[in-house]
This record gives sequence, structure tokens and C-alpha cells, in this order.
Amino acid sequence: MTRSAPTRRKAPKAGAAQFSTLHLAPDSLGFALDCAALAVGAVRTGTALPAALAAVQASMPAAAAASARGAIQDLAYRTLRRLGTVDWLVGQLVNKAPPAHVGNVLSCALALLIDDERHAAYTSFTVVDQAVTAIGARRECVFAKGLVNAVLRNFLREREAWLEKAQADAVAASNYPLWWAEAVRRAWPDAWQRVLAAGNAPGPLTLRVNARRSTVAEYLQTLDSNGIAADAIGPYAVRLATPLPVDRIPGFSQGVVSVQDAGAQLAAERLDVRDGMRVLDACAAPGGKTGHILELADVDLVALESDPARAARIEENLTRLGLRANVTVGDAGTPAAWHDGQPFDRILADVPCSASGIVRRHPDVRWLRRATDIPALVTEQRRILDALWPLVAPGGELLYVTCSIFPEECEEQARWFESTHEDAVRLDAPGQLLPAGLPAAASPSVSLSTGTHAAKSERPGADIDHDGFYYARFQKR
Ligand SMILES: C[S@@+](CC[C@H](N)C(=O)[O-])C[C@H]1O[C@@H](n2cnc3c(N)ncnc32)[C@H](O)[C@@H]1O
Repeated sequence: MTRSAPTRRKAPKAGAAQFSTLHLAPDSLGFALDCAALAVGAVRTGTALPAALAAVQASMPAAAAASARGAIQDLAYRTLRRLGTVDWLVGQLVNKAPPAHVGNVLSCALALLIDDERHAAYTSFTVVDQAVTAIGARRECVFAKGLVNAVLRNFLREREAWLEKAQADAVAASNYPLWWAEAVRRAWPDAWQRVLAAGNAPGPLTLRVNARRSTVAEYLQTLDSNGIAADAIGPYAVRLATPLPVDRIPGFSQGVVSVQDAGAQLAAERLDVRDGMRVLDACAAPGGKTGHILELADVDLVALESDPARAARIEENLTRLGLRANVTVGDAGTPAAWHDGQPFDRILADVPCSASGIVRRHPDVRWLRRATDIPALVTEQRRILDALWPLVAPGGELLYVTCSIFPEECEEQARWFESTHEDAVRLDAPGQLLPAGLPAAASPSVSLSTGTHAAKSERPGADIDHDGFYYARFQKR
């Protein structure tokens, strides 16, 4: 198997995006291809996809943004899920690397064409025609209309053969950087291919029912009466059969439900909060878990977040839910700057991590991270844990959470913590959840619940479709 890395092309910064709205109708595929290509280009130069899409949207007229948002988003996410394959194809089908935007339009068009036409949203003819139209709408790219037409038609002529050949290239076949795929294989030798495949399919849309306002049973009836198919997958979790925009989800704007993966919902449940407790949510933005904690009990909650812009999102979310917390901007690793000296009964440490468990929702993450980020994250997680532990009251609990599937950030961290904090007793916790409900026990390289401590892993059923998470719980003696 040969190995190639996806090309990092020079592309304009997301903020520099310019649009040829004069020549492309905002509801056309050509417009969506042009805009998605700009967003993909920004990811290649280091911008996270949501920020890249926001910059692209912000630079177009409001009416165009409203009508094209869904199509642009769908195309950009689809392209990043298939970036390994489409970059390999461009490398094979083009003699000399094309200018960045031309290459990115080709990538987005190929991401549509690699689907069998019988299951595709557009005919092959439409994709080729609209890609050529999009290229022609930009004066600086117009020279490449013939190239784009020829490349896409050459691909279509031998589509099956090209896709088969792509299987011989590790990055093209997996759609992950090599270091990432190998890290998953090392960690989960029996399940790595299924874990990687799960990360290439879009996840379900899961809602959390606000326990102060409704119940899962009641909310399922509301959905049913609105003709929306869904099922219950947890005490507060409802999974929609087909994802919907939030403005079409009954009760969303009134705070009856929030969008939250079923795996993430375990945090507030396992924190076991009761009325009157003092609780610290130490890495809180955008406030998904903060909201859930406050839905479950009347607690005195400090929601700490180091990024001021992200901290504002906690307030927005709590306002929609009609709940209140003391939202504080500060570094969890330096409590002296923000802590009032009162111990906490519960601390949720949902620390910054690789996000390797949530790649199906964030397909850009794998292309943005570097292998060297992992040891740096491990060091940062330890710094945060060391700083937070003294804030836990005797008998109080700390819940360590990551949305990672790399053991260095998960079980290995929990073991390090237990071995370096004599007054920490390990309690039952879900342990490692692999994405899409795959059994974590598939890995011999990490043995959870060895019997050397009180911890047992208690996971939701394997049929429950959730993102990848890790949970460890410690009580202070
Ligand atoms: C995994 S996210 C938290 C998600 C959140 N708990 C939720 O459920 O919506 C981690 C958050 O920690 C913040 N963060 C990173 N380093 C931090 C630090 N040293 N102190 C406080 N917050 C930090 C990040 O900005 C990010 O918003």
C-alpha cells in the first residue's frame, strides 16, 4: 500500500473570500461549489470549518446566505469527509498542481461524483456543468474551465477503476492522515477500521429533553404529532430519524430541548448533582453540559471558560433554557485568579482534547491536528487536573471527560491521576465510549477496570449511537 499525504495548497484566508454573485445564482450548485471550495481552502490553511463557513457566509448578501447555507455546508462537510480520496484523485488526474481555488472546486465536485449516481443528489452532468460554470464565474480562474471539464469527465469515464486504485493509498482509502489512522489502529486493534469508518459517516441528530420542561415520553408524542420520526436512546436523549435544522425542531427556541449527543449527556447524569451543591464546570463553553447540570438540580454553578468569545455562547445557551450560572472567564489551570476559596462538591473537567471521538461531526479536525498536538494536550490536561483537584471538597467528586478515543488522553490519564493523587478514590464511570456504540472492549491495549481499583466501566448499550467519549470519576477521601 502506498502512502500519500493530502496536498496542502495555498489558499486565500477565510476572511478574504470574495464572491461572484453577479454570475452565479445563490440557489445554484455552482454557487455552493464556489463557496464550499473557499471554506475547504480556509481549512487547508488552518481555519476550523465552522469559522471558515461563517466567514464565507458573512461576506455574501444576507438573502444569498440564507438560501445557500444548507447546500454550502453540506458540500464542505462532505468534501472534508472525503478529502483523502479527492486529493489523491486530483493528484492523479492533473499534471501540474492547479491554483488553489481551482483545486478546491475540483475537490468539492469530485466529493459529489464519487457517490454512485443512483444515490447522489445531483446527476453527474449537473455536477460537471456547475463546476465549470463556477470556475468561469471568476475572472482569475476562467482560464481553467477546460481543465476542470476534462478532469471531471476523465474521472467519470473510469470512475470505478479510479476508486478501486484509490484503495491502494492509505490516506485516500481511509480519509484520515496516516498518523491518525495508525494511532487508532494501535489503540483499538480489533475495531480500528470500524472506528475510522464511523467517523466518515454523518452522526445522527440527538436531542436532550430539558427535565424541567418535559420528559422523553412526552416529547416523543410532540414529535409524533408534528410528523417527525424519532426514538428514545437515553433517559433524556431522543434521536431524530432524519436530522432537521433547529428552527424546525419543536420547542427548541423555547428551551424544551437542546442538541446534544447521547454520549455527552452522560456527563451531567454521572456527576450526580443534588440541590444546594456547589458545582464547577471547569471548561464549560459552549455550555452544553452546563445546561444539562442545571436542568437536573438547583445548584450553585460556576461555568469557567478561558476563551471570552466562547464564554458568551454559554450565556446564550442558558438564556434560551431560562437557566442561570456564574459564567467566569479564566484559566482552569490557575484557580488563584478566579476562585473564591470555597470548595466544590462536584467538578466537571471536560478538558481540551484532540476531539478524536467526534470526527463524524467535525470532519475538519483530523486534517487540522498534528501528531505532536497529542503530547501537548496530555500535558495541558494534567496541568488542569492538578490545579482543580485541591478545589474538590472532602467527599466531593471530580468527573474527568474527554471527547477523545486516544488512550493517552483517556485511560492513561486516569491512571496517571490515580497514581499521583493519594487522596483520590476511583469510582464507577462509563470509561471509554467508542463512536457509534462500538464496544470498547475490542481493544487489548487498554484494559479498563483491572480490579486494582474500585472503578468499573458502565457503558450505555452497544446499540446506542453516540460519539466517542471518555469518562473517569474520582472522589476525594
Ligand atoms: C471540550 S470543550 C468543552 C465543551 C463543554 N463542556 C460543553 O459540553 O459544551 C473544552 C472547552 O475548554 C476551554 N478551555 C481550554 N483550555 C481551558 C482552560 N485552561 N481553562 C478553561 N477553559 C479552557 C475551550 O475553550 C473549550 O471551550
